[in-house]
Amino acid sequence: MAALLSLTAASPLRAGSARSGAGLIEKSAAQSGTVPPPAAPLGLAAQVGKQMFFDKTLSGSGNMSCATCHDPHYAYGPPNDLAVQLGGARLNIKGSRTVPSLRYKDYTPAYADLLENPDGISAPGPGGGFAWDGRADTLANQAKLPLLDPIEMANTGAADVVKKIRASSYAQLFRQAFGAGVFDDTNAAFDSAMKALQAFQIEDVSFHPYSSKFDLYAANKIGGKLTPAEVRGLKVFADPATGNCASCHYQGAGLNGSTALFTDFSYEAIGVPRNASIPANADPAYFDLGVCGPRRTDHLPLSKGAGNQYCGMFKTPTLRNVAIRKAFFHNGVMHSLEQVIRFYNARDTIPELWYPTVGGTARKENDPDFPSYGLIKSRHVGGTVKKFDDLPAAYRSNIDRQLPLDGRAAGADPPMSEQDTADLVCFLDTLTDGYQAPAVAAASGRCVK
Ligand code: HEC
Ligand code: HEC
Repeated sequence: MAALLSLTAASPLRAGSARSGAGLIEKSAAQSGTVPPPAAPLGLAAQVGKQMFFDKTLSGSGNMSCATCHDPHYAYGPPNDLAVQLGGARLNIKGSRTVPSLRYKDYTPAYADLLENPDGISAPGPGGGFAWDGRADTLANQAKLPLLDPIEMANTGAADVVKKIRASSYAQLFRQAFGAGVFDDTNAAFDSAMKALQAFQIEDVSFHPYSSKFDLYAANKIGGKLTPAEVRGLKVFADPATGNCASCHYQGAGLNGSTALFTDFSYEAIGVPRNASIPANADPAYFDLGVCGPRRTDHLPLSKGAGNQYCGMFKTPTLRNVAIRKAFFHNGVMHSLEQVIRFYNARDTIPELWYPTVGGTARKENDPDFPSYGLIKSRHVGGTVKKFDDLPAAYRSNIDRQLPLDGRAAGADPPMSEQDTADLVCFLDTLTDGYQAPAVAAASGRCVK
């Protein structure tokens, strides 16, 4: 930890949306409670929430629970590589965003346009809140969204959900937790149910196990010795001149002692390419613009095409357990961690790997001169690269311009070397929970030397 802290302390001031501030622990504790000691048994509300979380009857299809998309075996993230999951009353409707992990969300403050940055240095900016656009202020309010969304769990309303809980095997536990008459008032019962889901996510240690190799390293514990490759990767992660990942994906000291969350909760526009496999994107006039809508509705542009500083911003997700994901970014357009890192490195220097080219002629795929790691598989001769194809031109000035996405010219040298990108993957691997130190350290392998 000391190593990462001293490295990140060297980060320069962030432009734009970063935030600073000590008061975060108090604020978030008031919103969503604090982490109990690991062995604490679940309270009654959390016990109810646990039953609900895995209950498939709480859906229009009768076949989908929270855990269907937020699978505990995948750090409460998606169990597959789909960019978006299938939901709805017949489980045949594609969603519009990728499923985030539910781990380490317990310290998330409510969304604010000017949230103080936990690093204590950067200027306040948009931050906090749940979902990719921060539109839910608490875990309890977030839980309403999938339950009532016709393309997710597809219940017809609060009464529908309450009726199902009343008919469930844990109805009596629900009464014990919230009062004998709790089912008499549908809205109060629904609110209690949302509090139960929240309590489960806050109290159950499986949502914040802090059991990665990095945690052993940070606490100076046996088994936590990073390999040379992992140490180099950590340096790239924190180095303001190369990876600079820590400037958004690290919150500095303060939050819960050594338990780095690997996000500063800020919103940034980084120009993730459009994903044509999302049904909503079949309409060329449709754009998922994050904080400025359309799913979120309190920061909409005043008129079509009017400037709006929030358009294109999405939440910086935690990188804990990111190595077990198979779909990345808010729209799931990328499918490997290496690809994501290469996007950060070459978005500006080789944009034709990430964004479509219009006009010109496409050469055949697997052209040995054309890298194979991008989203676009064939080189174009002539034509124009449609850079930032998922952000209308009026909002491109919102694109963040800090390293590694500093807007350097196409064809220029990228910020990270081949070795840096490989080492960075090794470091991110250390953020996966459930790490068991091997009895004998491996002598060879990808991340050893
Ligand atoms: C059909 C798949 C699906 C189901 C079922 C589902 N979710 Fe989600 N969940 C998502 C997606 C997609 C998002 C991101 C939504 C967005 O950004 O608009 C999300 C976001 C969240 C978040 C916010 C996490 C963050 O990083 O801010 C929480 C908390 C959450 N879900 C809890 C639940 C709970 C509790 C249930 C059950 C009541 C549930 N989800 C059911 C797909 C699902
Ligand atoms: C300017 C702030 C910023 C910097 C610097 C930054 N990121 Fe991110 N990162 C984001 C944001 C914002 C997103 C979500 C973007 C979206 O989905 O539209 C993201 C998403 C990701 C994801 C996808 C995670 C998921 O759950 O889908 C990975 C992996 C990632 N970043 C790794 C890195 C690495 C590695 C670096 C350093 C090379 C880095 N980031 C630098 C802001 C940043």
